[in-house]
Amino acid sequence: MRLFVDSANLEEIRTAASWGILSGVTTNPTLLAKEDPTVDIRQRLKEIHAIVGGHISIEVVSTDTAGMLREAEEIVSWLPEAVIKIPMTPEGMAAVRELARQGIPTNVTLVFSPAQALIAANAGARFISVFLGRLDDIGADGLQVLGTVCEIWERQGLEAEIIAASLRHPMHLVEAARLGADIATAPFRVLQQAMKHPLTESGLHSFLADYHRLQEAQARARQVPLVL
Ligand code: G3P
Repeated sequence: MRLFVDSANLEEIRTAASWGILSGVTTNPTLLAKEDPTVDIRQRLKEIHAIVGGHISIEVVSTDTAGMLREAEEIVSWLPEAVIKIPMTPEGMAAVRELARQGIPTNVTLVFSPAQALIAANAGARFISVFLGRLDDIGADGLQVLGTVCEIWERQGLEAEIIAASLRHPMHLVEAARLGADIATAPFRVLQQAMKHPLTESGLHSFLADYHRLQEAQARARQVPLVL
């Protein structure tokens, strides 16, 4: 399972990219709205792509098919590698079909059920983002939905790649991998949490303390005069 960061924050993206674990970035209008409004959005997205390379999903904000297609055309004119993020609506599916015909990859977003995932696959989506956390937030079971989607994909041999999205904690990452998601897109905080373990921290602390004790003992031993 590949890892993407779900962020539009340059500092977070630079840091996560420096760890060498990222295969891409997903953004959405909410994430972009959290950042400095004086920075041109195009500039920010181009910079994000320059940092990470690989996949970058950029979401359209039109709700009609023609508007989505215009936005997609505009986005690929300044970032040809962009994957166009399209909402799971009838108008969105028509846009996905047309973009697939033009060879422009899409990521269908706001998918909350296996039925929606199947529809998106049939429209020709290259990626499908199944939201986990937002389902959990309303008392539903995001991982159960993802599990059913992955089971259907296996049984039917479907090609669209499944992105586990809307992650809230490291166990979402672990379970998404166990269920067979192709990609997980995680907030920076979840990637940080996933790397940490108290035993790693205490283990490293005692290795370093023991190493310093050894160095001091060796220095002391070198100062002891040889008695013949
Ligand atoms: O980018 C799509 C998705 O990951 C958003 O997640 O945290 O807003 O539910 P969230």
